[in-house]
Amino acid sequence: MRAGFPVPPDAPPTADPLADPTDAADPGLRPDQLELIRSVKGFMPDDEGQALLGVARYAARSGLGPLLEIGTYCGKSALYLGFGAAPFRTPVFSVDHHRGSEENQAGWEHHDASLVDSRSGRMDTLPVARRAVEAAGLEETVVLVVGPSMVVASAWGQPLSLLFIDGGHGREVAWADYRSWTPKVAEGGYLAIHDVFPDPADGGRPPYEIFCAALESGRFQEVPEWSCGSLRVLRRPADPV
Ligand SMILES: C[S@@+](CC[C@H](N)C(=O)[O-])C[C@H]1O[C@@H](n2cnc3c(N)ncnc32)[C@H](O)[C@@H]1O
Repeated sequence: MRAGFPVPPDAPPTADPLADPTDAADPGLRPDQLELIRSVKGFMPDDEGQALLGVARYAARSGLGPLLEIGTYCGKSALYLGFGAAPFRTPVFSVDHHRGSEENQAGWEHHDASLVDSRSGRMDTLPVARRAVEAAGLEETVVLVVGPSMVVASAWGQPLSLLFIDGGHGREVAWADYRSWTPKVAEGGYLAIHDVFPDPADGGRPPYEIFCAALESGRFQEVPEWSCGSLRVLRRPADPV
């Protein structure tokens, strides 16, 4: 077992995954794993990624179900989730149509021309994400699901121990993800939302709006000690709030 990774892989599911938050605060990433993650293109700073890793570990060992991310892009956050979940043999499903969000298209702020498929002229992040998962040795853990999140949601029945929303940030897409995916979070499971900016000067509103909606719904409570930067973490309590 690596230093700083106190939970054995065969640990039984924890009745209350929040019983020992300090346990998840120690992510235990090896330097080579961190170096690999840093080499993958994406939009997740190290500190938010480490927070996501901690939540992934808790969710994965809870026995409540698989983890699911909306918004793979090139696989950066999927690697954090995968490294957190792999020791518990809990799968991580990462959903993306791999055509990029609005802001990834040509002429927009976050466009990367190297991610355009020369044959079709369209964005295609799938080959890059697949290579990242392979390089991380996470092919048995991180399952790339290719398609529009709404289509996947329409056929998805399994309760989730962690839902991470980081897909389209436009109002319509973000709300559609919120409405169709959050009911799939298991009781006792977690909801994480990326790019939550209370101040409009810092970023777009929809992720913040759905974060507020989750709180106001009474179905989720924030776990402030796990929220980091623009990453907000909530938990669906086992009993009604
Ligand atoms: C902000 S990026 C994800 C960043 C990634 N989580 C990371 O940490 O690097 C958003 C991704 O969501 C995808 N996306 C946007 N709308 C989508 C939709 N309706 N269905 C599936 N994927 C979508 C885009 O293709 C893009 O790759």
